[in-house]
Amino acid sequence: METAVGRIALFGLLLALVTTLPNKDDWDIYSFHINSTVTGRYATTVITSRVANRMNESKEIEFQVRIPKNAFISKFKMLIDGQEYDGVVKPKEQAQQQYTEAVSRGQSAGIVSSVGRTLEEFKTSVTVAAHKKVTFELTYEELLKRRHGKYELQIHARPMQPVKDFKVDVYINEEAGINFIEVKGGLSTKALANAITKTHAKKEAWVYFYPTEDQQKTCDSCSDQGMNGDLVIVYDVNRDTSLGDIKKSAGYFVHHFAPSNLPRIPKNVVFVIDQSGSMGGRKIAQTRMALIHILSDLAEDDFFGLISFDSQLFHWKRELVQATGANLESAKTFARNIRDRGATNINEAVLEGARMLNAHPREGSASILILLTDGDPTTGVTNLGQIQANVKGGIKGKFPLYCLGFGFDVNFEFLEKMSLQNDGVARRIYEDSDANLQLKGFYEEVATPLLTDVTMIYLGGTNLTQTNFSQYYNGSEIVVAGQITDNNIETFIPQVVAISSNRRLVFSDTNTTAVSTGTMTDHHIQRVWAYLTVKQLLEKELLVSGPEKKSVTEEALRLSLKYNFVTPLTSMVVTKPLGETTDVLHKPKEGETTSDLSALDLPTRQHSPPMRSSPGTSGRMFSMAYLRPDFGSAGGAVKGTLHHPQGPTGNSRSRSRSRKVKVQQAQVDFFDYDDYGTALNLPRGRSPLPTIVTTQKNQGRVYQRSHRFLIKPDNQSLPLCFDVAGNTQLKLFHHPNRGLSVNGRLDATLHGGFKKIVIHSSTDVHIEVETTGITVREGQTQTSHTGQDLITAGSVTVIKRDKEIDIAAGDTRLLILIHNRGHKESLWPVLRQLPSDPSATGILALKPTVYEEVQQTSSTKLKINNQEIDVSRSTADDFSIVSTPTLDCWLMSAESALQGSLDDFTITNL
Ligand SMILES: *[C@@H]1O[C@H](CO)[C@@H](O)[C@H](O)[C@H]1NC(C)=O
Ligand SMILES: *[C@@H]1O[C@H](CO)[C@@H](O)[C@H](O)[C@H]1NC(C)=O
Ligand SMILES: *[C@@H]1O[C@H](CO)[C@@H](O)[C@H](O)[C@H]1NC(C)=O
Ligand SMILES: *[C@@H]1O[C@H](CO)[C@@H](O)[C@H](O)[C@H]1NC(C)=O
Ligand SMILES: *[C@@H]1O[C@H](CO)[C@@H](O)[C@H](O)[C@H]1NC(C)=O
Repeated sequence: METAVGRIALFGLLLALVTTLPNKDDWDIYSFHINSTVTGRYATTVITSRVANRMNESKEIEFQVRIPKNAFISKFKMLIDGQEYDGVVKPKEQAQQQYTEAVSRGQSAGIVSSVGRTLEEFKTSVTVAAHKKVTFELTYEELLKRRHGKYELQIHARPMQPVKDFKVDVYINEEAGINFIEVKGGLSTKALANAITKTHAKKEAWVYFYPTEDQQKTCDSCSDQGMNGDLVIVYDVNRDTSLGDIKKSAGYFVHHFAPSNLPRIPKNVVFVIDQSGSMGGRKIAQTRMALIHILSDLAEDDFFGLISFDSQLFHWKRELVQATGANLESAKTFARNIRDRGATNINEAVLEGARMLNAHPREGSASILILLTDGDPTTGVTNLGQIQANVKGGIKGKFPLYCLGFGFDVNFEFLEKMSLQNDGVARRIYEDSDANLQLKGFYEEVATPLLTDVTMIYLGGTNLTQTNFSQYYNGSEIVVAGQITDNNIETFIPQVVAISSNRRLVFSDTNTTAVSTGTMTDHHIQRVWAYLTVKQLLEKELLVSGPEKKSVTEEALRLSLKYNFVTPLTSMVVTKPLGETTDVLHKPKEGETTSDLSALDLPTRQHSPPMRSSPGTSGRMFSMAYLRPDFGSAGGAVKGTLHHPQGPTGNSRSRSRSRKVKVQQAQVDFFDYDDYGTALNLPRGRSPLPTIVTTQKNQGRVYQRSHRFLIKPDNQSLPLCFDVAGNTQLKLFHHPNRGLSVNGRLDATLHGGFKKIVIHSSTDVHIEVETTGITVREGQTQTSHTGQDLITAGSVTVIKRDKEIDIAAGDTRLLILIHNRGHKESLWPVLRQLPSDPSATGILALKPTVYEEVQQTSSTKLKINNQEIDVSRSTADDFSIVSTPTLDCWLMSAESALQGSLDDFTITNL
């Protein structure tokens, strides 16, 4: 044990680091974008922050963001005054010297540090001359892990001040098809929910988060310093074939295996619960609560055992018994009476658990041993290596051991190694009010074994990641990547062999070999392979020693360098402008504090104070793929882990967990109906040619296009669509309380879309948007803008980006996309943040329609507000998205879709 003084000194030092917030008068983050692209569960996220030094002297500007621990940073660059400074990934030893030098000069070398359950902090800074700007761009990559039947992409947004041009764009592309998608997390609650828009097509989904500057200050987890919280995108993919998803490209493959149509197999589970003195108080109470819940979830054909231990063992029953009602009641009584006392004899307790399972062999069942402890072994056998050897000998590879380390007094590396040696994983349970939910959440991940002894076989495959798995659980997924020998797809044959109860199952599918990747780039699958391989080599490094350890480490390092991953073996060296220090970015290794990395003369193993009082200092954290704790509600759980310098979060945390999240707003998008269109009331399919319409005014023949609008529903059902003819002038949006109105003119000669959109604000501000530029009239003055700028007019902010114009006013954010079809540009407005005021009207403010499908012999009708409406199945290009995907929709008349006359939505003057 190191001295308390050492610990307090470290704690103080780190606390000082994390509480240093930028002086917001000195610099201005004028743009903050997060762009996440997920292809085949592999997420690549780019965070771009643009900052201006407002002072007339040079200033040190900081870039500080939080990224998921599972991710590897793969790129970082800074742009200052036209000059680019790229981060270079180097072996850690090489970077160490630069790091040490920086530290010895007393400079805060950049680091990546753990900040809670799931996030790491990336931090660097650079000096920027007076009135100059800097752009920071960070890229990180991660393979999303399926848990509880879903994937979660966690995006943490904490720009440190409200930002005018803030946005999050998420694009998901899954060849297997997206089954459902939801948006959760602290940032999806309350007023900020209005800033989320979500579109779900068959294989693609888009989530946008565009809060206005005002909104960034007024939400739950927001303050004067802007937002601080998570957006968690939750989704799952369709699973049609039992062999799962195999993607191949340029000599590499990735296989996602997660059959769900299998029966559960009965399990034998033994819980080994630490009741040593240190478990006292809340920890033991939460453990009891979790155990009682878990016992209630056991199925009647499960067998179970329960041991509590300190320096002695306490059996509920000496042998496994069936989970009958009476037995469960008796076990719950035992659980309720578990009291903290004594020392920690891990060795004897785990061996006894193993003995009980071994003494109860049962055909066609799956055995699981679960250890929960909060400390190091202190009595009986205390030599860690000896315990590991004993446990391995006791289990003999027959069943997995899962170790749950409660709090920060455990030697997590010891538990992790012991789990990995026995086909299991270790998980940290964070001391917090939801610890019982963490325990229960973990149990649920392994509660339903579907297969045992899973062997993944790839004929014609080489350099495979892990292929043998002792058990496969419902809601999880097995992922294997590898290379295809000689890139010969013909001879590449995947197969899975596994045991389900008493049956030996062989999963094979001749069809999958035909599936080639249309959308995935070569590059991409190879990176998934590299990511998985490096993760697994880093685990393996723990288990082996001697020359084997050396070769494993070397291979992991070689791949990290080749693929530019910042892993515990590499560092990123960020060279800065002349005269400034170089930053060295380290990723903390599992079981390591950030300070372990430094040359600081600190004890090597830190016992951090409890989470609650130690923002950013949590000592030994996870960074391996499967170690992330997981809970029922991702948003709540994730949020609860963060310790914001801005203030306590306890309250909002529990609220956000229970709140039902509204994920979809009324949204009307526009469709370029360039094929066909005549009368509004005649739903028809597509016809190949534009209709020639004789207009009465000029008696001439003109090509008259109509425009197709989409109304997206709240839930998973199909959007509605309807057509509006020709050159109609539409009332797009009217927000009476703010005196904000937006009108647009459709153009029949364009391939859909608007020719002109005009925004009126009560403060006598008129903004005319055309494809050629923007004109702003403010009182008597009129200005034109064609370049990419940020324009402020009254309370309206206009941000012109490439191919889009972003307009924010109060609690409303309107995006106007510039599409180019048929060599002509047209405009497409979309509300990215709906005002919270329900009195807003106009075609963009329509509420999502709730409908019911009514099948009839010859046709389908939709029932809306108790009215049956004729519809036909059609498609519409969704112009609210840059790539204009084609969505299926129910085509109906404008009157039916609008539940009123189109006249209510038209205007005579723009
Ligand atoms: C996001 O990143 C993807 C992939 O790099 C890119 O194609 C896309 O244009 C980016 N989106 C935005 C809004 O920057
Ligand atoms: C900028 O510099 C001038 C003189 O160099 C000084 O008078 C002024 O106060 C400075 N402005 C700010 C905002 O620091
Ligand atoms: C597996 O989970 C799915 C939902 O994720 C559920 O529908 C199915 O019934 C589960 N299978 C078993 C055997 O419990
Ligand atoms: C995987 O399992 C198979 C069959 O059980 C066995 O032959 C093979 O050696 C195992 N491979 C590894 C790497 O453990
Ligand atoms: C393989 O493809 C054929 C035709 O494309 C289909 O009928 C069959 O169901 C597929 N088999 C599997 C296992 O998906």
